[in-house]
Amino acid sequence: MPTLDDATRGRILFGGDYNPEQWPEETWKDDVRLMKEAGVTSVTLGVFSWSKIEPRPGAREFGWLDRLMDLMHDHGIGVVLATPTSSPPPWMGRLHPETLPRDENGQTEWWGSRQHFSHSSAVYRRYAAALTEDLAARYGTHPALTMWHINNEYCTPDWGDEAATTFRRWLQDRYGTLDALNTAWGTAFWSQGYGSWDEILPPRRAHYMKNPTHVLDFKRFTSDMLLECYRTERDIVRRHTPHIPVTTNFMPFWSGQDAWRWAAEEDLVSIDIYPDPKDPLGGQYNAMIGDMTRSQAGGGPWMLMEQAAGPVNWRGVNHPKPYGLNRLWSLQAVAHGADAVCYFQWRQSRQGAEKFHSGMVGHAGERGRTFREIKEIGAELALLGPQMTGARAHADVAILHDWHSWWAGEQEGRPSSLLQYPEIVRSWHRALWEGHLTAAFAHPAADLTPYRLVVVPHLYLLDDTSIDNLLAYVREGGTLVCGFLTGVADADDRVRPGGMDPRLRELFGIDLIHEWWPLDAGERTDCGEFHGTLWSEEIQAAPGAHTVAGYRGGELDGLPAVLRNGAAWYVSTLPEPAALRDLLGEAARDAGVRPVLDDLPTGVEAVRRGPLLFVLNHRREHTVVTVPGRHHDLLTGATVESSLRLGRYGAAVLKEAT
Ligand code: GLA
Repeated sequence: MPTLDDATRGRILFGGDYNPEQWPEETWKDDVRLMKEAGVTSVTLGVFSWSKIEPRPGAREFGWLDRLMDLMHDHGIGVVLATPTSSPPPWMGRLHPETLPRDENGQTEWWGSRQHFSHSSAVYRRYAAALTEDLAARYGTHPALTMWHINNEYCTPDWGDEAATTFRRWLQDRYGTLDALNTAWGTAFWSQGYGSWDEILPPRRAHYMKNPTHVLDFKRFTSDMLLECYRTERDIVRRHTPHIPVTTNFMPFWSGQDAWRWAAEEDLVSIDIYPDPKDPLGGQYNAMIGDMTRSQAGGGPWMLMEQAAGPVNWRGVNHPKPYGLNRLWSLQAVAHGADAVCYFQWRQSRQGAEKFHSGMVGHAGERGRTFREIKEIGAELALLGPQMTGARAHADVAILHDWHSWWAGEQEGRPSSLLQYPEIVRSWHRALWEGHLTAAFAHPAADLTPYRLVVVPHLYLLDDTSIDNLLAYVREGGTLVCGFLTGVADADDRVRPGGMDPRLRELFGIDLIHEWWPLDAGERTDCGEFHGTLWSEEIQAAPGAHTVAGYRGGELDGLPAVLRNGAAWYVSTLPEPAALRDLLGEAARDAGVRPVLDDLPTGVEAVRRGPLLFVLNHRREHTVVTVPGRHHDLLTGATVESSLRLGRYGAAVLKEAT
């Protein structure tokens, strides 16, 4: 199978989504001139071009795209060619309204925006496949083509009638018999027993709380159906061009796709990341998504398909990036494994819903500060490419994460609606990041032997295979730190005996969990050395378990907050950030995991990728970092002996001097 290396060929890909159909052709020449100035090596064409290519059913207007492909090739710029199937033209909705998705209230999502297709529509799929076939036939041999980009940010669920039919088929495959389905869904509750497959609907709007396993299966189904759409197009382009890598761009930490499964179907993993420039922990968010994406790529290189050169336009208030931040976050992505640093989009639009979303060339044009920074970044990435493409970043710590657990845990009727799965995971990643420990992410059933320390922020649902995996990991010498409300439900979202799997309770030294005590927003619980937030538990420890920290005062006075049983730790609350950092730091030390560099100042990150050490200052203040030994900074050419001075948002990429 081809990989990202086949597209990068020793260069870091630099560029972005290019939507030239929004501009008169005279602009294209100017685009190319500026692309060359900026060191652009890659553009993504065609993402939203369906109505331009197929203005009438069955028509093909390829002339403009032919000219663009040639233009790019003539200037040495590779093309990531998208199948434009995420936004069907208006004629499709008018002629075939069944291609439009419905929401859970039965409302149609009309054309006039984007991503308005039903994954289950046979008509949509037929048109999408025909267009993909023709694109692949026409451009498969074009020398500018470096990669296929299928669709864009697959995300649209559908509660409509055709989706109801495919949902039933999906359920028949999963359960075989109605009896099995009724058992899995627990339909004895509230008189929900199904006597015929035709009675089953997508979980549409209902009077009161819905059956949680029904909802869980619908999320699984939606991810699988979108994946089926992806696979169909992927297989078409693969047939034409088996040597060209295929990807589809994920949204970061997005709930709608089981990205572990999806990543396994891609030749390379690509992602769109938009940290908030105003977020003081935006760098940590960028690191977390980088770590997650690298892990989906099996620890190898990945592609930053989209980021913003300045502000986005979809937050309530949209902040630009202060000078230096675009460069810092771009280099940070490379540190975390990216071999491609790309943007949405090349030239900022003058019309349409995203005209206030930044571009590499903003409304201020080539004289603008944003474009000046883009040129600086392009030049630096060109320097780094030959030194590092293909190199892997190493992590001794794994954070376990699973979409099915997220889907099951965030439903109605739970003990606390304040539990936000991504926020909990982010708190644990932050604790590791602030402790200067590089983390990977892993599925709970994955091979955990490469890691000395495994942490589980919160996995409400754990299937039997995953539980066996955790037990084996500790048995074979691994250190496991586990957060609250984990191992509660089985794969059907059925509560396990005692509210937590008995084998896990034994592992952590928990005799019984009497009650869960969720905390209110802003409430803190005293745990002696620190405060807990969000959650607490009334735990009866088993003999031999060591209480690392105990609740003080209130109903839980004297009961364990953090328990330790050998190499297995259980944390029954969410410690405040510094406390969680210290706790994970202690577990890491016990497990023999060292920070990347000792004595790093707060807000400075160090990451090793292959032979290179990235040192990144996420603060506006200057800082001095101790770096033992003698290095060359590949960005400045300077020699670094034992200490390094970094300016505001400064970065250094160090290679040991020989
Ligand atoms: C996503 C999409 C792009 C664009 C950007 C804006 O990542 O893929 O088409 O809408 O968001 O941030």
